[in-house]
Amino acid sequence: MSIDKNNKVVVVGAGLMGTGIAHGFVSAGLQTVLVDTNAQSLTKARGAIEAILNTGVSLGKISTVQAEAALARLSTASDLSEAASGANWLVETVSEQLAIKKAIVAQAAPLLAPDAIIATNTSALSVTEIAASIDSADRVIGMHFFNPVHKMKLVELVRGLATSDETVARTRDLCDAMGKTSITVNESPGLTTSRMSAMLGNEAMYMLQEGIATAEDIDTALRMGFNHPMGPLELGDLTGWDTRLSVLRYLHQTLGEKFRPCPLIIKMVAAGRLGRKTGHGVYRYEDNKAVLGSGLKGSVL
Ligand SMILES: NC(=O)c1ccc[n+]([C@@H]2O[C@H](COP(=O)([O-])OP(=O)(O)OC[C@H]3O[C@@H](n4cnc5c(N)ncnc54)[C@H](O)[C@@H]3O)[C@@H](O)[C@H]2O)c1
Repeated sequence: MSIDKNNKVVVVGAGLMGTGIAHGFVSAGLQTVLVDTNAQSLTKARGAIEAILNTGVSLGKISTVQAEAALARLSTASDLSEAASGANWLVETVSEQLAIKKAIVAQAAPLLAPDAIIATNTSALSVTEIAASIDSADRVIGMHFFNPVHKMKLVELVRGLATSDETVARTRDLCDAMGKTSITVNESPGLTTSRMSAMLGNEAMYMLQEGIATAEDIDTALRMGFNHPMGPLELGDLTGWDTRLSVLRYLHQTLGEKFRPCPLIIKMVAAGRLGRKTGHGVYRYEDNKAVLGSGLKGSVL
């Protein structure tokens, strides 16, 4: 089923993800209000959306008319209640804190259209718990986007305990309208993507620790052998090993022994070798580029 272009969408949180998500909605032809308590975030988000649209024009992907029309569909607001009034969709993508997300959903729910769907872009919090803050928990779903949203095709739709089939079906249609590919996952730690990525990165670190191959060769194996755009160690350097470690600890706690964090990751985090952001992880970085031959060589314990 197609999405009614008269639908009004509210995106709450104009950070990194909210910017990309709002760009996706206005590009799909939907009137979108981007809400944030921080005025600077709103200004920055509008500028970033305009820049993405302009890049689309210069690459010949969209026309100037389409870019202008998309930008005209975007409005910004600081008052959630006013923005939510009568809206058909609400996507919350504020900072990853359960209390803030629950408060937003509870405040907006009574003001939205009666059959409105509320989506949360949480990376790891429980959709079921966020949904429990309102009576109509069947209309709450996880919509897990990927960064950068305008380039990444996937959206993981997350079913909470009460999420209805209709909510899933309508949200899938919304993803289609945005040109995204959606998959549906029952709420579970790490969903599909973070769980697989954590496992792969951990295993690569175990191989490095055991001296099975150099970092460069492990990454080359996945890039050339499996067509991954990046090796698992390069990816860990990009994500940050501190983030990786906290995800692994959470998965170890919830899903068991197979996610026990590799001791080499713990050692690297203790040493402050967090990856690109500290200039040194598995590889060393100069001018944000990996220094050739700087990867760990194995047998490093
Ligand atoms: N960054 C990623 O790669 C990524 C990927 C998938 C999902 N997520 C999830 O998306 C969400 C947002 O992440 P982000 O990276 O965009 O964060 P961010 O820090 O860039 O942006 C969060 C925004 O929320 C705003 N905010 C905070 N409290 C608010 C409130 N009460 N009302 C309105 N606005 C409020 C902040 O001012 C800020 O602009 C988080 O739940 C995160 O886990 C992030």
